[in-house]
Amino acid sequence: MTQFTLAMDKKAHGPYMGAMRDLEHIKSSRIYGRRQGKPLKPSSQRRLEEWLPRLQLSKPESGASLDPAEYFDRPYDGYTLEIGFGKGEHLAWQATHCPDWGHIGCEPFLNGVSGLVDKVVQERLENVRIFMDDARLLMGGLRDQCLDRAYILFPDPWPKKRHHKRRVINPGNIRELARLLKCGAELRIATDHRDYCRWILSHMLQSEAFDWLAEGPADWHRRPDDWPPTRYEQKALEQGRRSTYLRFIRKPHRQ
Ligand SMILES: C[S@@+](CC[C@H](N)C(=O)[O-])C[C@H]1O[C@@H](n2cnc3c(N)ncnc32)[C@H](O)[C@@H]1O
Repeated sequence: MTQFTLAMDKKAHGPYMGAMRDLEHIKSSRIYGRRQGKPLKPSSQRRLEEWLPRLQLSKPESGASLDPAEYFDRPYDGYTLEIGFGKGEHLAWQATHCPDWGHIGCEPFLNGVSGLVDKVVQERLENVRIFMDDARLLMGGLRDQCLDRAYILFPDPWPKKRHHKRRVINPGNIRELARLLKCGAELRIATDHRDYCRWILSHMLQSEAFDWLAEGPADWHRRPDDWPPTRYEQKALEQGRRSTYLRFIRKPHRQ
């Protein structure tokens, strides 16, 4: 069997193919880390070959204004977006516990995508779609106010100053999330990195589009019951790092 590689991307199905606005800029400003780790187990490789083409979203066309409903086999009551789902344990949990919502995950790391595909197949989840690339490419092609929730859990902290430009929480992505989230929709962000936490809060609080849902430390040190731990969070805990859970609400859109 040939090893599954990123060439699979070319087989992506979906209503829209091709470039999108700002594509060239995004291509030249890569912000994620590695795309492939250890070779996949033969069983995961087979599952990926069989299932990813059914679950995978292609890059929206230039100027597209897609409704997430178009990506699913049936309409759902709401749609969520998870940026950087890692191995997908949080996304699979949300898909199981919120079966009336459609859940879209973005993750360029092949081994992570394989982890989510395994869970989708094992748990027979029909309400999951996967974009195996930089989330910015997908977000740019979605229509305004189409999301009911977004998650960015333990984004890479890029601690060196010269790498801060790769941080996924940045003014451009905050503006894009503000455009995509409906009024009252929640944006959840978690980090175990103190400096990144300060960065996230300062950028989010500068945005006039969001209110921070916190009154005291109990609110940001405690994970809500409908927010399961991620793999990265568990590693951080084992290494003695405490996590911060940040919840923001999209304010009403200006007319
Ligand atoms: C530190 S890991 C955390 C993974 C997972 N959320 C967890 O908590 O276990 C950050 C993930 O974000 C992904 N990522 C980074 N930049 C991204 C982007 N622009 N679009 C989508 N995923 C991205 C990386 O590939 C990586 O898997």
